[in-house]
Amino acid sequence: MSQMWFEIQEQPQVLKNCLEKNQNTLISLAQVLKEREINHVIIAARGTSDHAAIYAKYLIEIKMGIPVTLAAPSVFTLYNKTLLFNNSLVIGISQSGKAADVLEVIRAAKVQGMPTLSVTNDEASPLAQEAQFHLYCAAGVEKSVAATKTFTSQIYLLAQLVALWSGDEAFKAELARVPALITQIIENADQVKNKVERYRFMNECFVLARGINYAIALEGALKIQETTYVRAKAYATSDFHHGPFAMVDDHMPVVIFAPQGPSLKDIHEMIQKLKNAGADLLIVSNDAETLAMGNCSLEIPSEVNDFISPFVNVVTAQIFACNLAKLRGLNPDAPRGLSKVTITR
Ligand code: AGP
Repeated sequence: MSQMWFEIQEQPQVLKNCLEKNQNTLISLAQVLKEREINHVIIAARGTSDHAAIYAKYLIEIKMGIPVTLAAPSVFTLYNKTLLFNNSLVIGISQSGKAADVLEVIRAAKVQGMPTLSVTNDEASPLAQEAQFHLYCAAGVEKSVAATKTFTSQIYLLAQLVALWSGDEAFKAELARVPALITQIIENADQVKNKVERYRFMNECFVLARGINYAIALEGALKIQETTYVRAKAYATSDFHHGPFAMVDDHMPVVIFAPQGPSLKDIHEMIQKLKNAGADLLIVSNDAETLAMGNCSLEIPSEVNDFISPFVNVVTAQIFACNLAKLRGLNPDAPRGLSKVTITR
């Protein structure tokens, strides 16, 4: 059994642990953010952690109406410049907690007296130590190079923070169901395993979504890239219409995340366009009509709304990538040319 598969299966328990471990920090941080009337958020992160940042951006902007900027850490490290942070919460996300450029963003924010938060899987790491608040993923050591449980714990903690900060009790209740929903996906992993054969020899594919699941299109594509070496490229469908669509030709594999919710209408239009262009569609959805439009489809639980769907979608993508790697004779735990910790300065 690969480490990746083992770590995928740990996720329901990891999410329960991380919530328990961070309850007090979440409450005091939400209190500080309310008291300081924070009206802007800046997030710095790389790789999978950057995809967690994109999930958080959609969530904070939709649930709170507070603008979220994704920082360009190179501004601090290559250009030796800083930003006017004004009244911002500044967040650094890094599984290892060793992201050197993210650390510089947090340091610069501290100089200006901003509240700072890090989200890491290592309490002793530089980033965990530097930020005023730390959310600990409590995921245990992640051995597989392909991050799985650290990503879901990052987005779970950030979502829990938004639920408390916004006072959205209904969202808090929805989040409580996430571990059980992920368990359902894992128990139903054969659904995915039985369908990867179709993609065994693909060299490239597109991964599409709209809205909050754009973060999952990016993360799904990254999982496919690093474990299977397929040239997977992610787009928001809203951008895919604007040029990239021209790359689609007959039999081009396209994975589309299409949960019920605000993105579905636009996704339907895209599905129709792609079918007309002859693309081969793998649709991940909880909508029967949408599932029927795919050449191949993967069903997610029906009782999943737009904000929660990223959790089940990403676990589906992890299982897909892990199984496709094995089918292609690759070890998903140790992709060529990669190390577990990549530090950008
Ligand atoms: C994830 O599957 C990738 N291997 C990569 O993005 C990784 O998550 C990232 O390099 C980790 O960086 P971090 O420790 O700063 O989060």
